[in-house]
Amino acid sequence: MTRPTILVTGAGGQVGYELARLLPGHGKVVALDRSALDLVDADAIRSTVRALRPQIIVNAAAYTAVDRAEEETELAFAINARAPEILAEETRRLGAVLFQYSTDYVFDGKASTPYAEEAPTAPLNVYGESKLAGEQAIAASGCASLTLRTSWVYGLRGRNFLLTIRRLAAERDELTVVADQFGVPNWARAIALATARLIGLGPSYLAEHGGLYHLSGSGVATWFEFARAILGSAERPRLNAITTAEYPTPARRPAYAVLTAAKFGRTFGFGLPDWRVMLRDCLAARE
Ligand SMILES: NC(=O)c1ccc[n+]([C@@H]2O[C@H](COP(=O)([O-])OP(=O)(O)OC[C@H]3O[C@@H](n4cnc5c(N)ncnc54)[C@H](OP(=O)(O)O)[C@@H]3O)[C@@H](O)[C@H]2O)c1
Repeated sequence: MTRPTILVTGAGGQVGYELARLLPGHGKVVALDRSALDLVDADAIRSTVRALRPQIIVNAAAYTAVDRAEEETELAFAINARAPEILAEETRRLGAVLFQYSTDYVFDGKASTPYAEEAPTAPLNVYGESKLAGEQAIAASGCASLTLRTSWVYGLRGRNFLLTIRRLAAERDELTVVADQFGVPNWARAIALATARLIGLGPSYLAEHGGLYHLSGSGVATWFEFARAILGSAERPRLNAITTAEYPTPARRPAYAVLTAAKFGRTFGFGLPDWRVMLRDCLAARE
């Protein structure tokens, strides 16, 4: 079998960076960061895809600034909804397979048991709305696609909660962290590894098993518990639990955003580990 050409967008992001490192074992990888392919530029998306003619497109680019999205609504929709729509159209034209990542923030967080794929969506913020619109555009396009919803992505590079907590821990004696939002932290590398494993199944298998999946580790955490686990047994800084109401942000966030990955596990026979296992592996990794 000839090695497929795999286009990765958003190659400078947490998941995109890991994909660019991992995927060369699975094909000829063209990994483009924002400077090489700006997803706001619809013509650039079309001409890049048409020139490369990839068998697989992994869209790891996204507008992920959840609070800023409340102001930059148009930009968030251009990147999170319109760009995936164009990628999906191009994927269909080529008979390729599109991977898209989406978010737990498509839900309103009023549930008390983990959300399955068919649970009704009701985003509380613009970011969630724009990501949901991207999911829907891909589904409506009729292209072969896997949309993987995940949550609380972190790693040792980029912008994320783990690095913020570590930076603040070096600067302060005391930290306050929200303890009434529940979710699952997922390591960007584990998400990329799972994606690579899926790609290894081959385009025709993927086309047959396309659709919407939750890709998330097991277990549940609050941001407070996640911070505690990041800092380990260190006595400093002291961690103080606060409520969401005590930490107002421009964007509302779901109180309970736990995804069950049961469908993914049933379909593909593997999944992500418990969030504490992923965190341990991440902290033990060099970069
Ligand atoms: N981060 C999370 O907690 C989280 C949670 C649930 C789901 N997700 C989803 O998981 C996927 C991967 O997220 P991530 O954590 O890897 O996000 P990330 O680290 O913020 O990476 C996103 C990448 O997209 C790039 N990008 C932004 N605007 C772009 C544009 N106009 N054209 C091209 N690239 C652009 C960013 O470039 P710059 O660095 O130049 O801005 C960044 O490199 C996304 O679909 C996200 O919605 C993330």
